[in-house]
Amino acid sequence: MKYRNLFIVAIALIFAVTTNAQDKFEYVGVKTCGMCHKKADDGEQLKIWEASAHANAYKTLQTEEADKIAAEKGFKTKAAETADCLKCHVSGHGVDAKLIGKKFKMEDGVQCETCHGPGSEYKSKKVMENREEAVKNGMLVFEDVDKELCQTCHNEESPTFVKFDYKEMWAKIAHPIPAAK
Ligand code: HEC
Ligand code: HEC
Ligand code: HEC
Ligand code: HEC
Repeated sequence: MKYRNLFIVAIALIFAVTTNAQDKFEYVGVKTCGMCHKKADDGEQLKIWEASAHANAYKTLQTEEADKIAAEKGFKTKAAETADCLKCHVSGHGVDAKLIGKKFKMEDGVQCETCHGPGSEYKSKKVMENREEAVKNGMLVFEDVDKELCQTCHNEESPTFVKFDYKEMWAKIAHPIPAAK
């Protein structure tokens, strides 16, 4: 029994340590990522994102159409104030306020960090240039387009959902680094 308790304590400790590490990854916002990811030679990820629907996902919630959808679903609040809309239409929703950096703006909609992870610890040039370090510090990378990632939002829970063809949809937001392709 004694050993079993020790084991439980050890697991609890490991859990506490790992959760603490996660705790320091703060959302810095798309403008911060965009400072380095905007040159045409590097693939102008910022520009591609700005032209995508993800950049407007919050503004969409401020429309009359959105308020109508929210009302039809029985929500008493405006769409842009309804957690059940915000959770898919902005980055960092529901995250502890202390993990939201000063430059982060919810109004910027579905930003880089929704897909690549909160960037406070990997955004520095030194870390970013070393893929392994960046990943250790919270950056999420993908071998290929991650269909499951898309489907956390592109699914039937979305009131306007029809279907999701990830290849077609990815083509609309693809943002490769030219040299790597
Ligand atoms: C100080 C400049 C700088 C900032 C700020 C920055 N990056 Fe980077 N990023 C880089 C550089 C340099 C690379 C390496 C590019 C290469 O390999 O050609 C990179 C690579 C990446 C990669 C590709 C990783 C891989 O190997 O597949 C991703 C994804 C990425 N950055 C996302 C972000 C996100 C999201 C943010 C904001 C949270 C951000 N970056 C902020 C400079 C920066
Ligand atoms: C599960 C994630 C999710 C939730 C929850 C969600 N949305 Fe969306 N919303 C999406 C996605 C993804 C799209 C784009 C494609 C689609 O309709 O599936 C979208 C698109 C929209 C559009 C644009 C439709 C168009 O035809 O251009 C409106 C308006 C909208 N949502 C309003 C709302 C409102 C209001 C709520 C809350 C009642 C809400 N959404 C909740 C994911 C979600
Ligand atoms: C955090 C939730 C979320 C995730 C994750 C997400 N999306 Fe979206 N996406 C949205 C919302 C919300 C909209 C609707 C924005 C609007 O119209 O205002 C949207 C719209 C789009 C659109 C424009 C819709 C159209 O019919 O042209 C494309 C393309 C798209 N997403 C592709 C993707 C792909 C590919 C992935 C995965 C790599 C992905 N999205 C992941 C929330 C998300
Ligand atoms: C909807 C999710 C989503 C959003 C938003 C998003 N990315 Fe990505 N990004 C991906 C996926 C998925 C890949 C991997 C694609 C692949 O491997 O084919 C990727 C790849 C990258 C790469 C590596 C490209 C390469 O060729 O190696 C960089 C750099 C990058 N993203 C930067 C950004 C920046 C900067 C932003 C915001 C301006 C951003 N991403 C927004 C999903 C996203």
